[in-house]
Amino acid sequence: MPIDLAVVPVAGRGTRLLPLTKSQPKEMLPVGRRPVVQHVVEEMVRSGVRRILFITGAAKSAIENHFDIDAELISHLRESGKEDLLAELAFERENVDYYFTRQRRQLGLGHAVLCAAPMVGDDPFVVALGDTIIGLNDSSDVTRRMIDEFDRRGADAVIAFQEVAAEDVVHYGIAESEGKPGDVFRLKRIVEKPAIKEAPSRLAVAARYVFGPRIFETLRTTQAGKGGEIQLTDAIEQLIAAGRGVYGVRLAAGESRYDIGNYESYYRTFLEFALADPQYGGEVRAALKRMLD
Ligand code: G1P
Repeated sequence: MPIDLAVVPVAGRGTRLLPLTKSQPKEMLPVGRRPVVQHVVEEMVRSGVRRILFITGAAKSAIENHFDIDAELISHLRESGKEDLLAELAFERENVDYYFTRQRRQLGLGHAVLCAAPMVGDDPFVVALGDTIIGLNDSSDVTRRMIDEFDRRGADAVIAFQEVAAEDVVHYGIAESEGKPGDVFRLKRIVEKPAIKEAPSRLAVAARYVFGPRIFETLRTTQAGKGGEIQLTDAIEQLIAAGRGVYGVRLAAGESRYDIGNYESYYRTFLEFALADPQYGGEVRAALKRMLD
């Protein structure tokens, strides 16, 4: 059965981006012409996803509004002769169903994913973290590749990985591969945010996962781990320890990961997308050059 459901956790408070995120979800911050989470949803739609379940939290209603069909805005644009702008709202009319549920207690990413269990049932599904874009301007098909590997290998989990600098391993789930890792590899172990000394590699989880239903069984008994939170990484480690098929798919060269969770990477991301804007990119580049000279 084709995978058509993505769970998109968006419950995190985004405290590293205060005051920007006081009343606005970090997933709604602009990156180029679209909010972060629209880039994520469009990547899902390109991968064959037709149902999106957001795991939301307090102060996240802007996300629901964004994906709603705004009939009033549409007729306003028609009546005021701005029909050309309707193209900017085309994403509203994609053939996608949106669902929302609240993570009512902030118990970690593993718990957020577990909140999806009643809706997901026994279907395989994608998890796409709502604060991370993969690939500049719709260029990535990593989720499609992951779904293909999941089906081909009869896997229990397939996870996206990207090599990071040694000093960054403390921010990510880090994998140890069976043998030398190729573009696709089997996991021997995974550990959440290890110290540099303890990191088995520099292969870091890159915000995309495909799971079969066993992940829920495992999450139900996963104890709080790093930071006192129920970690998705710990549940994946339990799948590996039980001999289940857990595989990694590496992001290709040039398939960048844009994490919006902190100012440094948010600024860089915004700049890169602004420079790539089909209409204004050239002007931004010229202005930037003048500033730097
Ligand atoms: C989460 C996961 C971590 C993963 C990261 C980026 O961490 O716990 O394993 O590497 O997302 O995909 P967070 O960024 O929520 O702290």
